[in-house]
Amino acid sequence: MSINKVKGTYDVLPSESYLWQALEQKIRDILGVYNIKEMRTPIMEYSDVFHRNSELSDMVTKETYDFDDRGDRRLTLRPEGTAGIIRSYVENKLYASQELEKVYYIGPNFRYERPQKGRYRQFYQFGVEAIGTINPALDAEMIILAYDFIKRLGLKGVRVRINSLGDETSRANYQEALKNYFMPHKDELCDDCQIRIDKNPLRILDCKIDQNHHAVKNAPTPQDYLSVESRAYFKEVLEHLNAAKISYEIAPKLVRGLDYYSHTVFEIEADIEGFGAQNVLGGGGRYQKLVSELGGPDLGGIGFAFGMERLLLALEAENVDFAKEKDLDAYVIVFTDELKKVATSMLYELRLANLVADTNYTGKAFKGQLKQALRNHAKYLIILGEDEYQKGMVAVKNTETEQQEEVLISKVKKYLVEKLEK
Ligand code: HAM
Repeated sequence: MSINKVKGTYDVLPSESYLWQALEQKIRDILGVYNIKEMRTPIMEYSDVFHRNSELSDMVTKETYDFDDRGDRRLTLRPEGTAGIIRSYVENKLYASQELEKVYYIGPNFRYERPQKGRYRQFYQFGVEAIGTINPALDAEMIILAYDFIKRLGLKGVRVRINSLGDETSRANYQEALKNYFMPHKDELCDDCQIRIDKNPLRILDCKIDQNHHAVKNAPTPQDYLSVESRAYFKEVLEHLNAAKISYEIAPKLVRGLDYYSHTVFEIEADIEGFGAQNVLGGGGRYQKLVSELGGPDLGGIGFAFGMERLLLALEAENVDFAKEKDLDAYVIVFTDELKKVATSMLYELRLANLVADTNYTGKAFKGQLKQALRNHAKYLIILGEDEYQKGMVAVKNTETEQQEEVLISKVKKYLVEKLEK
């Protein structure tokens, strides 16, 4: 029996959760500015949502958690957010009421990958999808949003890398060209890539084993096979980015790891100490076939997702002071059992006034209670001593100025509310 956490998972401890909450709050704040609403879909879906015939990426073919439930339904823990969102978009016919549906999501995903720093088997993504329309300005908006988000988090050394895979025809031509190009090198490639040549040559470009092979390094790029229309579309996306003064770099070899992309693809990278290959914080792109593959009309979409653990690691590595744990407003120090009841009623009253207040239940001596109060950064100590209590008073001490005053018990709440407002 194993009573450890599952390999590739982690716990968020009470001392760390404020970082997650702050990150989520930042996400919700910025998405509000962009007028994008949240969507929540289940963590488990029928396997067909992810295991579509066209999807031959490693992520879907090798890394999903698939299982049969007790009713023999084949289910999958979602490895990413997009497919589930599109499943719901189609099932709820959201296209019928809105020409363009823009949504965001935050939640856990599951991939059976080799765990390392910044890579887990259960990880959180924050993602955005804009579904229903194809327009270069919309592609640019998604990139601007991703860029803006990272900037607002306070991360520096961030790069937007962008490329175009072109429309279906461009993509098909490129695939054919890649196939012909790799054929003479077939025997030198890994077993998986030998199969990929016929089925899905694009995936050879992001093969972890063959990435340094000279043939992979010198392979033709999608840019060489863009149709006139696709080239014009991409140019317009870039012009929108220029108009908004977003800095980006064109990455001719960027194809992304999932198969549903066409036209614009992009990634957000950051130079972060000790990150190595996990320096990709997020990525996304346009998908024109996914909606129809999942049973919907012939509509396209574009979106992106960030790995939230990577964002937090990056913020830590860069020493970005983006979140603060909420300090205690008041800590009640109490000695005798009788006075503990006074403390109970006082705490309740303070909390009703929305003051962050706490006390000690372990019967520590004064020094121990004080230590605990200071560890929680309490702004005020309320010291319930026998002598003061006889007079209906308590001692209230400001921990910063060390000033102490005697305050009527009945006036403590008012006193603290006024002091804390200043
Ligand atoms: P993805 O590139 O597979 O794209 O994942 C997006 C981000 O999720 C990555 O850049 C990374 O930060 C994070 N991530 C991926 N796998 C792991 C892992 N095992 N551990 C920790 N973080 C990870 C997608 O998932 C697409 N659905 C993005 C998208 C949305 N495209 C269009 N719309």
